[in-house]
Amino acid sequence: MIPQDFIQELLARADIVEIVGSSVQLKKAGTNYKGLCPFHSEKSPSFTVSPGKQFYHCFGCGAHGTAIGFLMEHLGLSFPDSVRELAARSGMTVPQPQLDSRQQQQVQAQRDLRRTLHEVLEQANSHYRDRLRTSPRAIDYLKGRGLTGRIAARFGLGYAPDDWQALAAAFPNYDADPLVQSGLVVARDTAGETLEPTGFDSARVARRYDRLRDRITFPIRNVQGELIGFGGRVLDRGEPKYLNSPETALFHKGEELYGLHEARAAIQRKGQAVVVEGYLDVIALAQHGIEHAVATLGTACSAEHVRRLFRHAAQVVFSFDGDAAGRRAAARALEAALPAVGDERSVKFLFLPTEHDPDSFVRTLGAEAFERELARAQPLSQFLLEQVGDGLALDTAEGRAQAVARARPLLALLSDSALKTQIVAECARRLQSAPAELRAAPAGRAASRDRSAEAEDTTSMRGALRARAARLSAPHTDHARTALRILFTQPPLWHQLSATQHALLKQPDAASQQLAAWLESRLDMEPQLSSPALWEALRADGLLDQAASLAPADLLDLDGDELRTHLFGALDSIERDWVKRRQQQLAADGLRSEDERLEYGALSARLRELGRKLPRL
Ligand code: UTP
Ligand code: MN
Repeated sequence: MIPQDFIQELLARADIVEIVGSSVQLKKAGTNYKGLCPFHSEKSPSFTVSPGKQFYHCFGCGAHGTAIGFLMEHLGLSFPDSVRELAARSGMTVPQPQLDSRQQQQVQAQRDLRRTLHEVLEQANSHYRDRLRTSPRAIDYLKGRGLTGRIAARFGLGYAPDDWQALAAAFPNYDADPLVQSGLVVARDTAGETLEPTGFDSARVARRYDRLRDRITFPIRNVQGELIGFGGRVLDRGEPKYLNSPETALFHKGEELYGLHEARAAIQRKGQAVVVEGYLDVIALAQHGIEHAVATLGTACSAEHVRRLFRHAAQVVFSFDGDAAGRRAAARALEAALPAVGDERSVKFLFLPTEHDPDSFVRTLGAEAFERELARAQPLSQFLLEQVGDGLALDTAEGRAQAVARARPLLALLSDSALKTQIVAECARRLQSAPAELRAAPAGRAASRDRSAEAEDTTSMRGALRARAARLSAPHTDHARTALRILFTQPPLWHQLSATQHALLKQPDAASQQLAAWLESRLDMEPQLSSPALWEALRADGLLDQAASLAPADLLDLDGDELRTHLFGALDSIERDWVKRRQQQLAADGLRSEDERLEYGALSARLRELGRKLPRL
């Protein structure tokens, strides 16, 4: 939606040293800046920021990206939010293209509504917190649960009084729409039906009352720290035990995680996030010094939850109660996690003893015991294998066949990686099956599984391409990668290459094929594409992961001429490899026709030419 030329302009104007420098302490080192990497814990600085190339790169963990990438990775913002944030910091305005004035008004109205809802929620929050101070019963409840005043303050706990319209004391106009739109107040029509906060129509309201009454309140914030909703727990027995905000313009249960704002720094420091089931689990763990836990909001863990957590850490540990409900929740979490895991992103499963949840566990056995449980957590691969065989007689052909059928749709969710290869191989061994059979698209799910079947196809196609690429001499692959790395650092160099050189990079069996073809079509549209803008375009086209291994870190110090020399050197090597292979092919076919003999001769001449160029490097 955001035009590429704006992104290019934004990245050219933004000062990456300043952006990164506002959260990482940087020291000048030559033309670059260095500091301690915010993405993994280290004692000596291997994190480099290049003002010239407008990139950051960590030589320790490989983190790499533009100013936009930094805001995404470090603050966990989405792409559009990062662009907006960067634009705000650089004094630019993100254009709203192709919007007529009516649409612009709608966008503005949405924005105003969100701001109002945040404000209303904050106001209610301070009301609830005040009420907690003057409610001995609520304070006693929290104390009885072992919480200190300090931790209650840190998580902003409050108390909603036992009154149908207690919020009237906090808001001069209790009938104002935003109170309903924010989920604070429930509105019903004359028939007693609840009116939803989104698309709310105040004309239909017959009755209004506070959603949370006589409950402990848990403010729920998004990762940026904006208040988006509340959870509320009864003090005594009562149904339901927890009541959460409904879906509103701000609050989406299936995406947000409780405690992420508070835990973010600890999650990044540890490189790990722990997912628990309840608000009080998060808070109790934090009180005992385990500060990197978050909770889903009374829903199963979704793929979006997992994706969000991986923006902050490379490892996610799910903690579940040891009972049957916990196993069921774990099975759902497994499905949500499979698409997101890979060689650099791992998931583990922790099953606590049946009588415990994290809250009771850490209070009775202590933080160290919980840390030990974390360290012992089951890797995803192991849990998956257990699930696949669960309750089946694997010593019979029937049992194993059933397990294969169970495994297939799960394995299809895994993206292509060394981890997938390992898991498939292990599954095949245990089930006395073949990897290919396990990788086969799951049968009988045509409609819903279409996309994963398609993914499976491209996977095997890519697999075949990779196998072919691997058969090429290793140097060829390296040269192609070098060439791409340089082109990604200085995209307009592409225009200086000959048609042959373009073709070489796009050879069907070259490691560079897909990215080179992409680069060419991109530069067709925008000939002067800058390197940081190219990086963001890769992200937009879903190629960022594939390009990530090309992170041209060692090129950060080279100037334009040096890059050019290296590029042409790499291309000559690629050509030499290609010429030799073509000659081998011709020779193997027996050089029977005149054409073939002529081609062979021409190739020999070209090889000599390329050989003469060598010393120049
Ligand atoms: P649990 O019932 O496991 O309770 O709910 P808990 O977290 O251990 O709570 P305490 O220790 O008794 O206070 C786990 C989570 O499920 C959601 C809440 O988010 C809760 O934190 N939940 C539970 C609801 O949304 N509604 C309910 O009625 C119960
Ligand atoms: Mn509990």
